[in-house]
Amino acid sequence: MKIALDTDKCMGHARCHAMTPAAFDLDDEGYAVVTPAAATTSEDDLQNAAASCPEQAITVTPS
Ligand code: F3S
Repeated sequence: MKIALDTDKCMGHARCHAMTPAAFDLDDEGYAVVTPAAATTSEDDLQNAAASCPEQAITVTPS
């Protein structure tokens, strides 16, 4: 599974963090950061977080 975060698209809506806080942290400016725990997060949770982003900044590709 591959998780891609397009930092150019991220506007800091923080919905990914609210939905799946273990996998998506926020930096000091409120933009998303993929955490190491994302690697062990379920694909469903990651897909839900990706779907929650209004900027479509997160892409989850099944392996
Ligand atoms: Fe950014 Fe989207 Fe999350 S705008 S903070 S990746 S909900």
